[in-house]
Amino acid sequence: MTDPHAGQLDTVMHEARSFPPPPEVSARAHINSPEAYQALWDEAHADPEAFWGKLAGELHWFRPFDKVLEWEEPFAKWFVGGQTNVSYNCLDAHLDSARRNKAALIWEGEPGDTRVLTYQMLHTEVCKFANVLKELGVGEGDVVSLYMPLVPELAIALLACARIGAVHSVIFAGFSSEAIADRNHDAQAKLQITADAGWRRGKMLPLKETVDAALEKSPSVQKCVVLRRTGSEVSMREGRDFWWHELMAQASPQCEAAPLDSETPLFILYTSGSTGKPKGIKHTAAGYNLYAKKTFEWVFDYHEEDLYWCTADIGWITGHSYVVYGPLSAGASVFMYEGAPNWPNEGRFWEIIERYRVNIFYTAPTAIRAFIKWGDDWVTSRDLSSLRVLGTVGEGINPEAWMWYHEKIGGGRCPIVDTWWQTETGGIMMSPLPGATPTKPGSCTKPLPGIEPAIVDVQGQPVKPGNGGWLVMERPWPGMLRGIWGDEQRYREQYWSKVPGKYLAGDNARRDEDGYYWIMGRIDDVLNVAGHRLSTIEIESALVSHPKVAEAAAVGRPDDIKGEAVTVFVTLKAGTPGEELRNELKQHVREQIGAVAQPDDVRFAATLPKTRSGKIMRRLLRDVASGSETVGDTTTLEDFNVLAKLRRDEK
Ligand code: PRX
Repeated sequence: MTDPHAGQLDTVMHEARSFPPPPEVSARAHINSPEAYQALWDEAHADPEAFWGKLAGELHWFRPFDKVLEWEEPFAKWFVGGQTNVSYNCLDAHLDSARRNKAALIWEGEPGDTRVLTYQMLHTEVCKFANVLKELGVGEGDVVSLYMPLVPELAIALLACARIGAVHSVIFAGFSSEAIADRNHDAQAKLQITADAGWRRGKMLPLKETVDAALEKSPSVQKCVVLRRTGSEVSMREGRDFWWHELMAQASPQCEAAPLDSETPLFILYTSGSTGKPKGIKHTAAGYNLYAKKTFEWVFDYHEEDLYWCTADIGWITGHSYVVYGPLSAGASVFMYEGAPNWPNEGRFWEIIERYRVNIFYTAPTAIRAFIKWGDDWVTSRDLSSLRVLGTVGEGINPEAWMWYHEKIGGGRCPIVDTWWQTETGGIMMSPLPGATPTKPGSCTKPLPGIEPAIVDVQGQPVKPGNGGWLVMERPWPGMLRGIWGDEQRYREQYWSKVPGKYLAGDNARRDEDGYYWIMGRIDDVLNVAGHRLSTIEIESALVSHPKVAEAAAVGRPDDIKGEAVTVFVTLKAGTPGEELRNELKQHVREQIGAVAQPDDVRFAATLPKTRSGKIMRRLLRDVASGSETVGDTTTLEDFNVLAKLRRDEK
């Protein structure tokens, strides 16, 4: 059967702006010119195994590996026969140097409480908690489920699992008890870790209560460790529930890192598929560790004295790779903030950056769009001159939002690294390097060394330069997923069956004449209007460039004549919904990208339905647009009310 959304895409977006790396950034960068980047990429291309094998020397090996890669498509084994330990690489490896007393984590709670843990202090806590895990009967290969606020103990728990070879499964602390129970069951989790509650916009999220309901339906979970975070009342079940602080008070601070095989599972992380049940993406120790470390160093150009802040929650892959494993194995100082960006007011992030003198800031387009909506005053009243590099991840960034980020947050001096990657890829795959790559707003620019993307049509043939198509990866890389937990068939089907021999990312993209990549959205987000395949992001970017529009989502609905008609949902930062503005917006898109993309319907909404990680759920909007009922998995919806409200909102 042919896929109606497969094949080539027409592009209507023409972004001509380009920003060279600022000379003062290049002057001190580790990779400081386009030539230096190219040389590294070429070296990896010429002999990938030699390239990764050499870099692997930066990790600690209890036993050296015999072979860099064993590739039996679609199964990869990296650093075969070697023994390492991710927790050792993140902690012990720094204890013989000046990093021992350097801040590993600088944390601020939402109420304003703060904590600093040096590498030595973090090491001690991790060793103690690793002993706690052992005491509770957790050993190598056992799955530990975590449902926690963004507190240092979450990082401590992950590193403690890694230390003894237990497999962690972090569930973002916004999911329902049903979602926890599903994931616990799928992973056959043995231990649950949670907190009494977490802070969010001044209110307490009752985490333990949610976990209690989940554990009723999680027969594999035998015990539960509870961190006291807010001091709120919780019920503790005798024999099953234990207080974190009580266990830690008894625990020895001595715990050698276990020498573990390179391919020891490190974690499972559930991510939603386009339909059906969430997939447990599996990552393993050595390859993931190396990939997170090197990509962190390349993309953020980290220097020893920098303070780095990634706003992602540890419940997402971004938090795994770029709050915990990447930066800590690189010996970085990581800033962590527990709460909401608009508490006690919309200036919280900028106040934090000013007070701590943050140098590198990594966030998501959904957050940037919210900042824009809240108004510039929150930003301009703060001194953000410490910032040197800005990053984004999670969705395509509309060029207008990119420009705002560049000018208002970066003061025009900071390169923006628009990083494309996925839960499945383990780490960043395509991104500018701050000191080396000229940027273009809306493009994730070029592949990192060792990464070989291609763009193909439905037959798997390369498309003509400039045309859009399916984004695939030609070669395995150390950070790649090792499978879907317990579902080999789905792993093969999802990623390796449509284009033989290549990893199918599930995104559409195009490459321009400079070899720059432009992500055009998920494969199933494509519109087909009167024979033209249009990407949702291009229409959305046009809408967001209108001064009254805060956010936009474009979807198709069946149309007898055009195949698909374009329906757009917009939220406004100014102006009043109504016929006049509707026409103005249609006209605006027409002017920006042409008549073919002019929306047939413009619908105004108070908010858009999003996944918990902030991605717009176009699949649901498609159902709303075409009037059909919602089907499939909605456990990742931010707010179910949003959907009901949207159906009622003015049409
Ligand atoms: O569609 C792409 C989009 O997010 C998807 C991966 O989502 P997830 O596994 O939740 O991981 C998000 C954090 C890595 C991709 O398939 N995406 C991610 N980054 C970008 C992006 N789309 C465009 N530009 C990006 N920089």
